[in-house]
Amino acid sequence: MAVRIVREEGDEILRKKSREVENVDDKIRELLDDMVETMHKYNGVGLSAVQVGVLKRVIVIDLYDDKGPIKLVNPIITKEKGEQEVEEGCLSFPNKYARMIRPAEVTVEALDENGKKIKIHAKELLAQALCHEIDHLNGILFIDCMIPGTLQYVEPEKDKK
Ligand code: NI
Repeated sequence: MAVRIVREEGDEILRKKSREVENVDDKIRELLDDMVETMHKYNGVGLSAVQVGVLKRVIVIDLYDDKGPIKLVNPIITKEKGEQEVEEGCLSFPNKYARMIRPAEVTVEALDENGKKIKIHAKELLAQALCHEIDHLNGILFIDCMIPGTLQYVEPEKDKK
């Protein structure tokens, strides 16, 4: 496993649409593992492959609960319900946060790391993270969805390892 370089704000790859994965093979599993390691290194809740420069429909999420990291290939939202107002950041926009409205609940269908079809019913933070990462696969960034005027820059804590 390896930590990959995270593409940041202004990198035009973040605006590109990612392609579907045809075969969930060892290369995809290695990508998923590297993405999990990269997300953990930067304390992220989620990461999409485009953020490490790979235009494939692959995302990882970790809420740091007892479920462990979630690895999804070709995820699609098949149902949305309700609304929640949330604060959101993105590893491609270090120290920036904004408020937005996301669905309160979503159903997502995807393939797991073995290529098996799975369905996830998510609410609250997991629903938010799924929407955020799936947006990345379509070149959509959180600043596109924010409530105008809510973007904030938060000074990073110094000497923190
Ligand atoms: Ni993001």
